[in-house]
Amino acid sequence: MRRRAKIGLLIMRIAFLMTVAAITSALVPAPRQNEGELLYDGACATCHDAPAANSRAPQKDALKQRSPEAIVDALTGGAIPRRMM
Ligand code: HEC
Repeated sequence: MRRRAKIGLLIMRIAFLMTVAAITSALVPAPRQNEGELLYDGACATCHDAPAANSRAPQKDALKQRSPEAIVDALTGGAIPRRMM
């Protein structure tokens, strides 16, 4: 009898832990793919992953050094966007 009670308690503990695990995984969002990387791969990689020797396009690593604001400025202002696209 006492042994049964112990097993019952163990099963309840496991059930409790599984419930906690289920709730936690529901609350913590799954990691999303980095949207910036997806965008880069789709729109920029062709020219910036391995620019030709005679191209002025900065390499990916050089682009990484720039702030997001600097990238937006480069894409939206001046003559470079016209030369780039
Ligand atoms: C068709 C090829 C091509 C594509 C696609 C392209 N670029 Fe470029 N990019 C260039 C070239 C060429 C230059 C150099 C322009 C120059 O200096 O005349 C350049 C320059 C730049 C620069 C530097 C501008 C500066 O002020 O020095 C940035 C930042 C940049 N690109 C970001 C991007 C991003 C972000 C994307 C994707 C959204 C992208 N490029 C897509 C060819 C491309």
